[in-house]
Amino acid sequence: MSESFSPPYLGTKPRHIAIIMDGNGRWAEAQGQPRVIGHRAGVKSVREVVRICREQNVEALTLFAFSSENWSRPAREVQLLMRLFMTVLRREIKLLKQSNVRLRIVGDISAFDDKLQQRIRDAERMTAECDGLMLNVAANYGGRWDIANAAQQMCKLVQQGELSIDQVNEQTMHRFLSLASQPEVDLLIRTGGEQRISNFLLWQCAYAELFFSDVLWPDFADTAMAEALECFASRQRRFGLTGDQVANPS
Ligand code: IPE
Ligand code: IPE
Ligand code: MG
Repeated sequence: MSESFSPPYLGTKPRHIAIIMDGNGRWAEAQGQPRVIGHRAGVKSVREVVRICREQNVEALTLFAFSSENWSRPAREVQLLMRLFMTVLRREIKLLKQSNVRLRIVGDISAFDDKLQQRIRDAERMTAECDGLMLNVAANYGGRWDIANAAQQMCKLVQQGELSIDQVNEQTMHRFLSLASQPEVDLLIRTGGEQRISNFLLWQCAYAELFFSDVLWPDFADTAMAEALECFASRQRRFGLTGDQVANPS
């Protein structure tokens, strides 16, 4: 690497925020309610963070809604989550379009039933021309799936003679991954108190700043988000350089 290497992004505002929206079930259980009540209550927090990101001119927001591992939950909870996903897509899409938000679903949507797949495609189409906030909702998403899927696509091109082995590198890989055309994830927030990645954006978060909040997702709003943004602004991102190199770029 030459000495002129410049760090990717040093601004004090994140261009791309990713959120692991965790804690819905515990929020509901704490009130003696079924877990699905927590998932429903979490929709309000989604609206809130979308609003805040628009106000803050964040370019992209990626929300973890359903992981590839979440299929192993009790069948009833999975069923209710799918239903909620259907309802929310139908109910919120007009508002998103009015707000100039472009919606994209990332993950292996082929596992969803036909109706849901159709609704996803319709929702994406409805906001395809929007050029404000890019809202990515990760559904049946797994970071390992994402990487394996990208590798498979590259292998196909190699087999067809359209890509040489030498071209199989980080840049090419990046093109085949989810979120390829978007800014790097600058800030990864996880609510609900756990401090782990849970197979979220494994590749894309290579240099993200991590922020863990004890707030359960349905309670996540202005104050908690402001705390995350403040914390991000106070970090010195070094991208492998020394603190002095970053503070005094030549
Ligand atoms: C996150 O909340 C939402 C999904 C995983 C679908 P949880 O349902 O994981 O809530 P807790 O972690 O059990 O409280
Ligand atoms: C991660 O939360 C997935 C989503 C928020 C959609 P989980 O609740 O599934 O994660 P673990 O099981 O605690 O790691
Ligand atoms: Mg959880």
